[in-house]
Amino acid sequence: MSLSRFTVTGVRNLQPVALLPSPRINILYGDNGSGKTSLLEAIHLLGLARSFRSSRIAPVVGHEEQSCVLFGQAALASGQARAIGVSRSRDGETVIRVDGQNVRSAAELADTLPLQVINPDSFRLLEGAPKLRRQFLDWGVFHVEPRFLRAWQRLQQALRQRNSWLRHGRLDGAAQAAWDRELELAADEIDAYRRAYIQALKPVFEETLQALCALEDLQLSYYRGWDKDRRLGEVLAATLERDRALGHTQAGPQRADLRLKVGGHNAAEILSRGQQKLVVCALRIAQGHLVSETKRGQCIYLVDDLPSELDEHHRLALCRLLEQLNCQVFITCVDSNALMEGWQTSTPVSMFHVEHGRVTQTHGPSGVNA
Ligand SMILES: Nc1ncnc2c1ncn2[C@@H]1O[C@H](COP(=O)(O)OP(=O)(O)OP(=O)(O)O)[C@@H](O)[C@H]1O
Ligand SMILES: [Mg+2]
Repeated sequence: MSLSRFTVTGVRNLQPVALLPSPRINILYGDNGSGKTSLLEAIHLLGLARSFRSSRIAPVVGHEEQSCVLFGQAALASGQARAIGVSRSRDGETVIRVDGQNVRSAAELADTLPLQVINPDSFRLLEGAPKLRRQFLDWGVFHVEPRFLRAWQRLQQALRQRNSWLRHGRLDGAAQAAWDRELELAADEIDAYRRAYIQALKPVFEETLQALCALEDLQLSYYRGWDKDRRLGEVLAATLERDRALGHTQAGPQRADLRLKVGGHNAAEILSRGQQKLVVCALRIAQGHLVSETKRGQCIYLVDDLPSELDEHHRLALCRLLEQLNCQVFITCVDSNALMEGWQTSTPVSMFHVEHGRVTQTHGPSGVNA
């Protein structure tokens, strides 16, 4: 999966842009405030119909514009092409089209264009709330296990019913038991998918991390969201009074987490900023490897400000791993010299200069001036 053509209108400071990216490495360079992150944001909008910088669309739409419109031609693993169009107006109206057909859900769109983002916010994966790590985990499970989405939807419905009943107490005993049973079944299914995914992810993550930096005693573990020795039904029965007092269900897959520890300590409290960045990169690159083993093919990587926090040795190691992924990668940096070297001569590298919202290709796919 890669973007062979990409056009942007109405995103932040960007002038209307039409890019013919390399199927592999694309470097976007330019001064602070020139529009590099906005260009990555535009690709993210195309892939997920939302930004990674703002939960609202209004700040993303250019000051003088009423809407932003993204269009991309995606080359699929099967060799087929797919035309994707996303338009979002300032007031939130969204139109998503894939091959000329309207698409109703962003999940369907996410399935079309799997994206991985590595940006300065990525640190939050280690130090932030468990929700971020669950999102990371479920992104992976969603892209490798087609039955996951249905199970997750069942879980959400059962949880909504239970939480509403906890607050208002309007269900009779039999109906409540039936919903608890449904919750337990969905929970067990989700737990099984997540567990299988972690088992596959762990060795790939460890190998990737090893290639990036030496952190031998880093341990990745999975907490499923309730006591590992008891059935969820038992736990729910035991915590019923507390759940009722709080008005929501405490135990279950909605509380799952990934734990990263170094020598028994929380990785976020021990590792340096650079080491944290490398751990997050290793996690995201490992996910990309697992996706590429499925029939969906590769995902696209958006790496914002790759050189920051990294010394030359680690920067080169990260570039090598991104290159070995065989994926399409969009990388931003301020100084193009930082990323000129280190690529195999056979890897198609394109470079784009971003200046006051204008994007100009300065190097073609084979390193030749465009
Ligand atoms: N809605 C908007 N309309 C117009 N311009 C905007 C809008 N939102 C942000 N900007 C401007 O767009 C410019 C590009 O920002 P962007 O974050 O893409 O820069 P950048 O090249 O990634 O910079 P840096 O190297 O500092 O990360 C900034 O000058 C910003 O002030
Ligand atoms: Mg930026």
